[in-house]
Amino acid sequence: MLAVNSGIDPLLKRPFSIHRRLGGDFQILYRVTGKGTAILSKRCLGDILEVVGPLGKGFPVKTTRDKIILVAGGVGIAPIFALAEEIKMKKPLLFYGARTKDEALCLNELKSLGIKPVISTDDGSLGAKDNIVNVLKDFLSHNSVGARLPRPYSQLLTLNPSPVTRHVIYACGPEPMLRALSLLAKEYNLKGYIALEQNMACGIGACLGCVVKTKEGYKRVCKEGPVFPIEEVVWE
Ligand SMILES: Cc1cc2nc3c(=O)[nH]c(=O)nc-3n(C[C@H](O)[C@H](O)[C@H](O)COP(=O)(O)OP(=O)(O)OC[C@H]3O[C@@H](n4cnc5c(N)ncnc54)[C@H](O)[C@@H]3O)c2cc1C
Ligand code: FES
Repeated sequence: MLAVNSGIDPLLKRPFSIHRRLGGDFQILYRVTGKGTAILSKRCLGDILEVVGPLGKGFPVKTTRDKIILVAGGVGIAPIFALAEEIKMKKPLLFYGARTKDEALCLNELKSLGIKPVISTDDGSLGAKDNIVNVLKDFLSHNSVGARLPRPYSQLLTLNPSPVTRHVIYACGPEPMLRALSLLAKEYNLKGYIALEQNMACGIGACLGCVVKTKEGYKRVCKEGPVFPIEEVVWE
């Protein structure tokens, strides 16, 4: 939670993901969407801003033989990049959707991690002219077998999983993207984790202003999240 100003206007801190950790420092990557981020964009080198954090729960990186698929939409690349940097040795696949070529960020930095993202843009100025969930769906339809086989075969594959490519998803992006991704994960029986966004006031679990509905009741995005298992979130 970052105070964009030293005064009381705006009163509330704004939530941001940790984009990169560089020694003892960290970077955020943000899009100007309103008053707070507009003020932030005017801050200068050497300005001191109040920060509370790190808060909440990040992406769990488990020991898994599953192939990791990262999915980022727009400025959702901010935390997905941090994750990619952490798990680059696992050679994750990255599907990255942006509105335009100019809004596809961090491409050189991803290259330096050895990650070549599959990109789509709304206007077709870079990569496929499609939304990134459709692009991922197309990939899965050619590369994921276990989930779509009839039952007896699925059981066989559980006994001997080695020839099967299984995937686990980690995603951050706009709500419609995450919603569509949840349906896709269900269709392909994939596990995964999604980072949600909600307007936040306190950021520390006290005001209940950021709750989302989950299969286990309402949960606070700032405290129990922002990352939730993909199958846990109830979309309304
Ligand atoms: C856990 C978390 C991590 C985030 N990480 C990043 C990040 O790394 N980079 C980044 O650019 N943004 C991130 N955001 C979104 C960011 O917090 C908002 O864009 C920011 O608070 C907007 O502040 P503002 O004063 O500029 O806009 P406001 O004037 O408060 O709002 C402008 C518009 O943006 C919408 N908005 C405000 N807050 C959010 C929000 N949290 N989610 C969706 N829409 C919102 C408002 O409804 C309004 O339409 C994150 C949000 C959360 C909850
Ligand atoms: S922002 Fe106050 S409980 Fe989450």
